[in-house]
Amino acid sequence: MPRRPLIAGNWKMHLSVAQAVELAEKVAEVAAGCNDRDVVIAPPFTALDAVSKAVGKTSTFIASQNVAWEKEGAFTGEISPTMLVDLGVPMAIIGHSERRQIFQESDKMVNLRVKGALANGIVPILCIGETLGQREADMTFKVLESQLAEGLEGCTSEMVGDIVVAYEPVWAIGTGKTASKEQAQEVHAYLRQFLEEKYRKDIAQKIRILYGGSVKPDNVDSLMAQPDIDGALVGGAALKFESFARIINFI
Ligand code: PGA
Repeated sequence: MPRRPLIAGNWKMHLSVAQAVELAEKVAEVAAGCNDRDVVIAPPFTALDAVSKAVGKTSTFIASQNVAWEKEGAFTGEISPTMLVDLGVPMAIIGHSERRQIFQESDKMVNLRVKGALANGIVPILCIGETLGQREADMTFKVLESQLAEGLEGCTSEMVGDIVVAYEPVWAIGTGKTASKEQAQEVHAYLRQFLEEKYRKDIAQKIRILYGGSVKPDNVDSLMAQPDIDGALVGGAALKFESFARIINFI
């Protein structure tokens, strides 16, 4: 079964509630016109409720940009998976490199978040990626393997079937420097093989692996043409309706 392509927009710490709803409604209209791909948007927490109400009944999926692991408790500043369920939010980005780098989130914490999401029926979009220094030191595969293995520690084949993995080389995020299609395909094929060795093959083959890092209208088609690239996680270009619409409509 071919994997269904998935285009996700990560709005990061941008947009007022009104701006978010306006953009979400336009995106949902474009997404409604495509029945062979999934579209996900990840607004900031402040706009999740309004965006979820605005587009929740359309084919567009909503994701949060992070999620805690406990259902409730003394976790100042965190949002629990059950709170997301309460808002009708079905997915959560976990382990984005900005969380790892700026907020020192560890693989252990990422793993707790993944398991907390899964336990509450939220689909994790697990982000992994190497820094420029790690790539230059030939450590790319080692770093990605450990981020993936530790991020999914304790997850069985039955648990990982629906998860989404996003490969986002840190040096390509927000820099305008995309990994070449060959570089991205090489990593995606490696990650697929790793998942197939670790999990039941038929389940591993279902896991969608997105590429992220300066995806734009002018490079999305060639990235999406690679056999192991199943979608894109888009930052900057997802904030502008025209560019995100073109990315959703990749050829
Ligand atoms: P970018 O961000 O598209 O602006 O490089 C991607 C991301 O951080 O997910």
